[in-house]
Amino acid sequence: MLDLLVRNAVLPDGRRGVGIAVKDGRIVEVREGLGLDVAAAPAAREVLDAQGLLVSPPFVDAHFHMDATLSHGLPRVNASGTLLEGIALWGELKPLLTHDALVERALAYCDWAVARGLLAIRSHVDVCDARLLAVQALLEVKRRVAPYLDLQLVAFPQDGVLRAPGAWDNLTRALAMGVDVVGGIPHFERTMAAGAESVRALCALAAEQGRLVDMHCDESDDPHSRHVETLAAETVRLGLQGRVTGSHLTSMHSMDNYYVSKLLPLLAEARLHVVANPLINITLQGRHDTYPKRRGMTRVPELLAAGVPVAFGHDCVMDPWYPLGSGDMLEVAAMGLHVAQMTGTEAMRACFDAVTTIPARILGLDGYGVAPGCRADLVLLDARDPVEAIRLRAARLAVVRAGRVIATSPPSRAALDIPGRPAFVDFKGVGLE
Ligand code: FE2
Repeated sequence: MLDLLVRNAVLPDGRRGVGIAVKDGRIVEVREGLGLDVAAAPAAREVLDAQGLLVSPPFVDAHFHMDATLSHGLPRVNASGTLLEGIALWGELKPLLTHDALVERALAYCDWAVARGLLAIRSHVDVCDARLLAVQALLEVKRRVAPYLDLQLVAFPQDGVLRAPGAWDNLTRALAMGVDVVGGIPHFERTMAAGAESVRALCALAAEQGRLVDMHCDESDDPHSRHVETLAAETVRLGLQGRVTGSHLTSMHSMDNYYVSKLLPLLAEARLHVVANPLINITLQGRHDTYPKRRGMTRVPELLAAGVPVAFGHDCVMDPWYPLGSGDMLEVAAMGLHVAQMTGTEAMRACFDAVTTIPARILGLDGYGVAPGCRADLVLLDARDPVEAIRLRAARLAVVRAGRVIATSPPSRAALDIPGRPAFVDFKGVGLE
């Protein structure tokens, strides 16, 4: 007896009429036609009829700040909307944080995430606080959400690991307490030289402790901010290929084209992962420009063409840097698609991968995917393919974790009352049902 049978699904790779059999939290069979004939379907405690709609592995967010989320307006709003005022505002908020309030906000965000089919998040946690209050809170949240959401934590020295007194010590303590990944923010150190020194020291620490690296890197419009070059070089020197992520890399938007033509192969050689954060990059970068205003997002199509995997992250939801957002990775993918002008068929498809398979690889998620042996984590979307899912920010009709439906949403449709016209629209187009 199966625990769950999903029938008549479309998979992101285009296979149709697919059945997914689940037992003991794992996928045991994926086959076209499985369960299509109800009379011949294998016995299952629960059957989820996908009705020809898309069933995807869950969304994954490779870049988030869960210690700051849902704090919008505390203790005041970011009046200028700039990155630097956001960082200053976070500095004002930090002394006012309490363990319980941090836990409560993070858990509330995880509820939103689950409802959106977002079941794995890599969150940076600020370690520039001698009390390590946020670290303790998010470690507790990580334990509490583990049954339904994978939370991976990055030790993030927001004020600069060399610049902020005690930050190195705090960062190593946070890692010892159970934080997973080594973070950094080289462009926020006092000088270019100090930034490069921070990259070298942090990568060495990661190599010594066998950890992954994920640095906020070159998050500015300064074409001369080239810490990603040091990050790639250190990755190769220390043998960390495939274990290092450069987040943001917004300065690449503004770099000289010749220099980028040299940089891209270096990033590929280091097997660096890249995370762009389109909602945040498009709003925080270009703030010193008049017109034309730069978009500020890194060079996503060019990175992909060079063989560098790129994920799209949410980064912020209702916090000192961004007053909007709702944990919807399809909104993130849609913004990334538009900002990078990725409207070609394959490019649009890559934007779906940028919020599913690519970030899953960055996090090193175990058993991710729709294949036998994978964990039975699935999302049934009210769309017929990945591009339609992005176009419609499709409703998550059902979210499955380890074989159990843990969230449902109604389809998005509007009732019409116009003589001679259909009774409702669902925005899927004419004659395609
Ligand atoms: Fe960030």
